[in-house]
Amino acid sequence: MHELSYHRRVSVAPMMEWTDRHCRYFLRLLSPDVLLYTEMVTAAALIHGDADRLLEFRAEEHPVALQLGGSDPALLAGAAKLGEQADYNEINLNIGCPSPRVQSGSFGACLMADPQLVADCVAAMAEAVDIPITVKTRIGIDDHDSYEFLRDFVATVADAGCEVFIIHARKALLSGMSPKENRQAPPLVYERAYRIKQEFPNLAIVVNGGIDSTDQVGAHLEKLDGVMIGRHAYHHPFWLCQAQRQIYPETKYTAPDREQVLRQMNRYLQECAAQGVRPHAVTRHMMGLYAGEAGGKRWRRFLSEQVQNSDAGSDLLLRSLAVFAS
Ligand SMILES: Cc1cc2nc3c(=O)[nH]c(=O)nc-3n(C[C@H](O)[C@H](O)[C@H](O)COP(=O)(O)O)c2cc1C
Repeated sequence: MHELSYHRRVSVAPMMEWTDRHCRYFLRLLSPDVLLYTEMVTAAALIHGDADRLLEFRAEEHPVALQLGGSDPALLAGAAKLGEQADYNEINLNIGCPSPRVQSGSFGACLMADPQLVADCVAAMAEAVDIPITVKTRIGIDDHDSYEFLRDFVATVADAGCEVFIIHARKALLSGMSPKENRQAPPLVYERAYRIKQEFPNLAIVVNGGIDSTDQVGAHLEKLDGVMIGRHAYHHPFWLCQAQRQIYPETKYTAPDREQVLRQMNRYLQECAAQGVRPHAVTRHMMGLYAGEAGGKRWRRFLSEQVQNSDAGSDLLLRSLAVFAS
């Protein structure tokens, strides 16, 4: 089995403003195996902007996939190359985001209406790099929401060299709905992903949308190659320890306890501070660490209040443990 296929059983979704490198470093402490995705980075930003800064990540985050946005095959090929050179394990193309800002740049979910253009983008990227090119898509857009529409999209894009599809099992409505509503209102139709897998058994199919328990992950994995988790992993990061134990029994693993995670993150915070990173940029992703635990609310309040006037050298995260002693 390809190494990435193993990791792909569970992945943490690309989420703008959320899955940045600090968030990924934190999540990796909880699970050595889940595949992590970056936030979406546009191909244009990488080609014309500060690629080194945008692509920066630490070796500990592996395996990690870079998500790109764009619709210009040459730009995307160049951006994919930069991603490969920076040592990402996979390049993913975002064909699922319905935000108006993204549509005006002519990429994201609106590209489902132009499968040939997506195929051209994938072909150009696959030509440029040796790592896998994958596509994250919805089950349809607006009135184009039949099974046949999705099947034809997948067939066209697979022909261009994409062997892995991540299917957010909702359609996207391109007008009249915010991105947030578009993640909640359209109904989830997991059956569509199952049918795609039956019709294209050689493709790896990963399902995404509304999944928040290891039981659900296990049920999907009976039919599919992977499950991508977004909001649940961010808001309940410790759940990844359970996922690691149950979904990757082949890996020898001892779950860390929360205190160990805090100690490691305290060291990380200090290393980041030496590079000029503000503590809040790191701690803001950790708010779910004690979700559902006794004292969790007090811990979050302590962190939110103290982070404003703490420097990273102040052992903020170690001090936060005192909340549980009182
Ligand atoms: C804050 C936030 C930002 C997101 N940004 C992206 C993004 O950059 N690229 C993308 O493909 N999807 C993005 N999404 C969608 C998620 O990847 C995922 O498809 C969606 O949240 C459904 O999965 P879930 O129900 O497990 O959260 C974002 C979602 C959230 C909540």
